[in-house]
This record gives sequence, C-alpha cells and structure tokens, in this order.
Amino acid sequence: MNTRLTQLAAGVLATVFSVAAQPAREPRLPNVAILATGGTIAGTGATSTTTVGYKAATLGVDALIAAVPELARVAHVSGEQVFQIASENMTPGHWLQLARRVNELLARDDVDGVAITHGTDTLEETAYFLDLVVKRSKPVVLVGAMRPSTSLSADGPMNLYNAVALAASPDAAGRGVMVCMNDQINAARDVTKTNTATLDTFRAPELGPLGVMESGHPTFYRTTTRLHTSATEFDIGPIQELPKVGIVLAYAGSGRVAIDAMVAAGVRGIVHAGTGNGSLSTDAKAALVEARSKGIVVVRASRVPGGTVARNGEADDDALDFVAADNLSPQKARVLLTLALTRTADTHEIQGMFRRY
Ligand code: SIN
Repeated sequence: MNTRLTQLAAGVLATVFSVAAQPAREPRLPNVAILATGGTIAGTGATSTTTVGYKAATLGVDALIAAVPELARVAHVSGEQVFQIASENMTPGHWLQLARRVNELLARDDVDGVAITHGTDTLEETAYFLDLVVKRSKPVVLVGAMRPSTSLSADGPMNLYNAVALAASPDAAGRGVMVCMNDQINAARDVTKTNTATLDTFRAPELGPLGVMESGHPTFYRTTTRLHTSATEFDIGPIQELPKVGIVLAYAGSGRVAIDAMVAAGVRGIVHAGTGNGSLSTDAKAALVEARSKGIVVVRASRVPGGTVARNGEADDDALDFVAADNLSPQKARVLLTLALTRTADTHEIQGMFRRY
C-alpha cells in the first residue's frame, strides 16, 4: 500500500473509531423532582440484619439519590427535603404543605414528574389526598421501603429507581397519583398496606395493580374509572386548615364512648368503621344520630378489608341522613370526607362524591 492509501485507510479507521467511541445520542431526559418526607426508605438500623427496631427518617434526600446513581439513566433528578418524619406523624397539615409544593413544581415547564419518598404506614392516605387535589396530569408517584437503607437487600434503592422511572415516563401521565413499590404500580385510591413486614405489602387486593415495572419501564394493564387530579372539584388554594374528621372503630361492646368523645372534640365528620357491611350497634347508632343532629356528617365504612358498604343496606341512610363509603377503607373515606367538607355539608352532595372519587 502506498503512503497516500495508508493515510486514507488510517483516516477512515480513525473516523470509524471516533464515531463508535461517542456515546449514543440520548433524547432529552425528563426532569423529575424527588420530594423526601422521611420513613423507612430513609431509615438506618444498627446492623445489616436489623429489620425491626431501626430508626426511620434519618437519611437526607441527597443520600437517597446518591445511593442510586442509575437514576441518571432515566431522569435529571433534583432533591428536596420537605419533611423528615416517620409517617405515623403525618397530619392533614403535612398533606396540605406537600400538595402545595407538588402543585407548584408541576406548574413549571422544567418539571416533568414528581416522585415522593414517604413512610409506608400512612403512605396510602397521603397518596389519596394528593390524587384528589393535584391539579396536573403529569405523573406523581409515591414510594417507600419496608427495609431500612442499611439492611441486606434493602428495597429502597430499586423502589426509588422504579418510582423515578415511572414519574419520568410520558405513559404515566393522566393516570392519577400512583404508588410504585416492589415492581408494582398501584392507584392511590385503591392501594393499601396489607402486611406489617413483607416487601409486597402494597396491594389493591380486589381491583389489582394498574401495571408493573420491568427494567425501569412501566407496562399498564388497567386504568381507574374514578375521577382524580384535575378532574376533581377540590381546591386547596385558599385552605389554611382542613376540617377535623375522626374515625371510630366498631368492635364487640364498643358502645358509644369514642363517638361521644369525637363529638366533644369538635369534629365536623365521623367515619364509622363498622362491622360487616357497615353495620351499627344500637349504641353506636344512637350516638351517631345525635352527632348528625348537631350537623356532624356521618360516613358508614367497614372494618372489613374488602367489599362495598351499600347505601341503605345495613342502615337506612336516607332516613338517618348518613353517607355510605362505597368500597373506600375507613382511612381513605376519612381523606375524602375531609376534602368533601371543604366544599359542602350537604350529605347528598357528599354521597355523590363517594360515587365519583
Ligand atoms: C413510616 O411509616 O414512616 C415507618 C414505616 C415505614 O416507612 O415502613
């Protein structure tokens, strides 16, 4: 080969190698804001085998992000520590603050989705509250962990990766607020914590998951039929404090003490977690009728984990002027009743909300 040809061949080879060495051109990655609130996902234990008796809410959002460098493959993430608490200490005041921040972030053109790290104990309540008050269709995903960050096979890092990947996915838009843990995607309204300890605790036992995460990609199988996010009538903008609503659990011999105490405490609504199909003992019924006569809105729910509470079934709701909770758990019924009371005290309208949301 003469010198000219050798130079040409070398040039071609160099071009081939330099093209091959360049990283593939990536489409613009979405921007996902991670809002951290504490919980076990940010928890630390004394040893790598400590899975009970650890301390929740000790690691900050930067540490959570740093533990999952793979996040950079699916999104540009930013972190913000909104609270640093175990979720049993979450209150309606926290819900309001968090929801305001989510709405602010989603209103920005440079935010494509939000992932929220949260303790698992009350995660489903926060998720449903956000589902009813977030005013955008961009994805909002709640995520937690059952094992603290220091444990062997901690579930937090993979859960966070999946949650961010889901929040970054255009396919996740318009589906309402979601919970993503243990590779499953569940609707905020339907999901509940079903087990005190296992990694597959978040389930929607009767309705099933919306979809699954595989290698950081969501696949959806169903969609919720209940209205959510921008389709709801709830506006937290002007609200400083949410109406006080309590839950009373029925059990053999429960009587009326807890109901009377709620009334004395000044609640505006009571969710009665009744037995069976929302049945009321004679004492409970008398106390709830009294409560209603004072303007307190009464919702009949059930302590049974599955099924609906039928209107005018175990109690004559029309005559008593009570509301039936449909298939919402007592804790989810409380979230909806709290928001309903920001709009109206009319029980017919509130019953309509329990059918719509
Ligand atoms: C909590 O809810 O903050 C503690 C429990 C957990 O996150 O699993």
